[in-house]
Amino acid sequence: MTRPDARITRLAETGRTPLWFRLDGREVAALAGDSVLTAVLANAPALRLAEFGTEGRAGFCLMGACQDCWIWQENGPRIRACSTPVAEGMRLLTRTPEAWP
Ligand code: FES
Repeated sequence: MTRPDARITRLAETGRTPLWFRLDGREVAALAGDSVLTAVLANAPALRLAEFGTEGRAGFCLMGACQDCWIWQENGPRIRACSTPVAEGMRLLTRTPEAWP
């Protein structure tokens, strides 16, 4: 379930229900109760790219204070990944949509 390049590796998850969401167009798995940040980092090396460089970002405070974890949804709005629960069928992007000015 975990990709080899994922930032987070699950070690002992057995009791939570799996769910599916799309990340950059590919179907990936999470567990019920994951934050979006956890779900993305269990499937990718970074949450998003930095605004002023090519480095990947993975959040910083993990408690809604630093604003480092805002990521895009395919339908436009951004969400704060560390304080938003992942949900079945979410469609998330780690890169800014091309249509964004
Ligand atoms: S990681 Fe700091 S606000 Fe989300």
